[in-house]
Amino acid sequence: MEYLCRLITPPGGTVFDPFMGSGSTGKAATEEGFGFIGIEIDKGYFEIAKQRIESVGNSDVVVGKAKVRLTGASLGAFKKVIKKQLKLQLGDES
Ligand SMILES: C[S@@+](CC[C@H](N)C(=O)[O-])C[C@H]1O[C@@H](n2cnc3c(N)ncnc32)[C@H](O)[C@@H]1O
Repeated sequence: MEYLCRLITPPGGTVFDPFMGSGSTGKAATEEGFGFIGIEIDKGYFEIAKQRIESVGNSDVVVGKAKVRLTGASLGAFKKVIKKQLKLQLGDES
């Protein structure tokens, strides 16, 4: 996960995970020195993620317990990103 964060994040950048779960991405991002913004709907997972991420000691972190709702333009943008990623993974850039 640390490798993936480094691969897609510019130096000094911030990783955004709107579906944080237990916070593995957040922990990796903060350990690599990136900023991190995370959202999680489930209280139990949120508490675990918060504890794991904050224990790294990187101050450039914002985590919140909330429900992400994808509608309208944000849903369209999200679908576009997913489609692009799927094409890249399948080797189809058309
Ligand atoms: C597979 S986990 C994500 C793992 C995480 N990205 C990591 O790095 O470990 C997916 C999480 O998304 C959360 N989730 C699902 N729908 C959500 C929503 N609408 N808003 C916020 N969190 C949501 C679930 O509670 C679950 O914990």
